[in-house]
Amino acid sequence: MRKIAVYGASGFTGRLVVAELARRGVPVVLVGRDEARLRRAAEGSDAEVRVAGVGDRAALAAAFDGCAAVVNCVAPFESFGEPVVRAAVAAGCHYVDTTGEQSYLKRVFDAFSESARKAGVTVVPALADDGGPGDLIAHLTAEALGEEAESLTIADLRLPGGVSRGTARTALANRRLWGGQGGLHWADGAWREGTVARAETVPVPEVGADGETGELKVAPFALPGVVTVPRHVRARRVETVMRAEVVPLFGGVTEEFAAALPEGPDPAARAVARWLMAVYAVGGDGRWARGAVTGTDGYGLTAVIAVEGALRLVAGEPAPGVLAPAQVFEPADFLAALEPHGVRWSVRAEG
Ligand SMILES: NC(=O)c1ccc[n+]([C@@H]2O[C@H](COP(=O)([O-])OP(=O)(O)OC[C@H]3O[C@@H](n4cnc5c(N)ncnc54)[C@H](OP(=O)(O)O)[C@@H]3O)[C@@H](O)[C@H]2O)c1
Repeated sequence: MRKIAVYGASGFTGRLVVAELARRGVPVVLVGRDEARLRRAAEGSDAEVRVAGVGDRAALAAAFDGCAAVVNCVAPFESFGEPVVRAAVAAGCHYVDTTGEQSYLKRVFDAFSESARKAGVTVVPALADDGGPGDLIAHLTAEALGEEAESLTIADLRLPGGVSRGTARTALANRRLWGGQGGLHWADGAWREGTVARAETVPVPEVGADGETGELKVAPFALPGVVTVPRHVRARRVETVMRAEVVPLFGGVTEEFAAALPEGPDPAARAVARWLMAVYAVGGDGRWARGAVTGTDGYGLTAVIAVEGALRLVAGEPAPGVLAPAQVFEPADFLAALEPHGVRWSVRAEG
């Protein structure tokens, strides 16, 4: 089996990705900027360690040499993601990452689609607990609607829960976006500036309701789905929202708060931290379809999702280019592969 490289392998998510690859018996190369931290992350295994900072093109190229795919877990992607994508494409490696950062994600599609196609490699960014299942469930929901959607709302309905220091630093790097200014929506065939959202509340989804009933208050929030979903779903408008009480938590992160956090939430906190992505599609005649996907331990699940995606790219013959998850993976099949990890999902259409 060919090796998979993990960039940022000494970080919180990176270590979870390394563990998931090891659990599946995949040979791993741990890559990052700090040899001592990488060696600690590799302790107890015979995994290879290769040192390469994001500013060192030659070292990155050498680090990915001979690998079938790269899983990028750097933070924040806004600051450090692109050199890793560039190096993976140049080395002929398929690529996935765990970003949830909308502006970085859009730049990856804009900047690397042509070079990835020419290199014959497939790049699937945002393969984390929001961008991965959110994109797949949006595809299935639109399919259930069976016609062009007048509007499609993607909602991140996670409850407040523990975040990693890397996520907090990512929030700082995306202050403008996650603070509520900026972001994109999709309208009439183009991406447009502004995280506008007409929905102020959304119905509690059946899957993942966890005792909640009625309507949930939501607020506009820049999610990855608006960049990926219009690539494979027919919709006049695509908007993204988040549970209203969670928005200020992301927007209000300070340097002091981030510095005081532990590297990641502990296993007990992770076990009860619930994530929930829901999609609401409305057709021209008012017909609707709804889908939702949920689970716990967003960080552990993100590692499973990224590894599942990387291994599917390596095992299959994916079309080259930068692609949304649902453009590469069969959505129901991918979600079914997450079920043994506690993921539940459903799609329902009116009638
Ligand atoms: N969308 C989602 O649902 C989701 C879920 C999970 C994770 N994520 C994202 O995944 C990313 C990783 O999160 P995390 O909690 O694992 O963060 P983390 O623990 O801080 O790890 C970040 C990694 O990036 C490396 N890094 C930072 N600055 C670097 C630089 N200048 N040059 C090279 N490497 C650098 C760090 O290296 P060192 O180890 O040497 O410090 C570390 O390995 C974050 O952006 C987070 O938001 C998203």
